[in-house]
Amino acid sequence: MGRVHVLQHPLIQHKLTYIRAKDTGTKEFRQLVQEVAMLMAYEITRDLPLVETSVETPVARAKAWVIEGKTLALVPVLRAGLGMVDGILAMIPNAKVGHVGLYRNPETLEPVEYYCKLPPHIEERDVIVVDPMLATGGSACAALTAVKDRGATAVKLMCLVAAPQGISRVQEQHPDVDMYVAAIDEGLNEHGYIVPGLGDAGDRLFGTR
Ligand code: PRP
Ligand code: URA
Repeated sequence: MGRVHVLQHPLIQHKLTYIRAKDTGTKEFRQLVQEVAMLMAYEITRDLPLVETSVETPVARAKAWVIEGKTLALVPVLRAGLGMVDGILAMIPNAKVGHVGLYRNPETLEPVEYYCKLPPHIEERDVIVVDPMLATGGSACAALTAVKDRGATAVKLMCLVAAPQGISRVQEQHPDVDMYVAAIDEGLNEHGYIVPGLGDAGDRLFGTR
């Protein structure tokens, strides 16, 4: 079963408080989501394997280390996942970026895929699927299926706020996927929104409500 890592770094928790606050406007919300995504990227990449190399310093040759293998692929779930991409790229500037487009049918709450474009050689890359919200887990599971169907084998999921229902669904349907979240909230309301959550992440990022 996939492990759930709750990233407790004080900077992440502090910024999340202002992301949640209903009076935080679009500009600040967007900025804070990018900052938290950057800090989460630092934590999620802790276990990337290194390979030994060497480098000529101005003084002598030094033993040194670089990250092994092909560059990582970020896969934001459209559209709210886009709000985390630049923050992660600030930490991992060489990362390739794929996109999975999904929306939730407002009646059934089930995800509908409308777009998928991934970097080449996805099967050789560490893949991080990114979405601020893990509510019922339907979107995350569909995004994980979309990347795995196209060959990805080493996949992690990064979300800001998760509901227990979403975590359980990912663990059932994608037991190989570890989750990295900033908070696990109480549950879902009758509209499928995370409680207390932060509201509609896409709307708050893009000012569409
Ligand atoms: C939101 C969010 C997730 C999904 C989570 O997207 O960004 O993708 O809901 O809910 P779930 O876990 O119940 O599937 P939404 O469908 O509102 O689309 P948007 O990003 O375009 O606003
Ligand atoms: N999508 C959101 O943007 N917010 C939620 O609370 C649940 C799904």
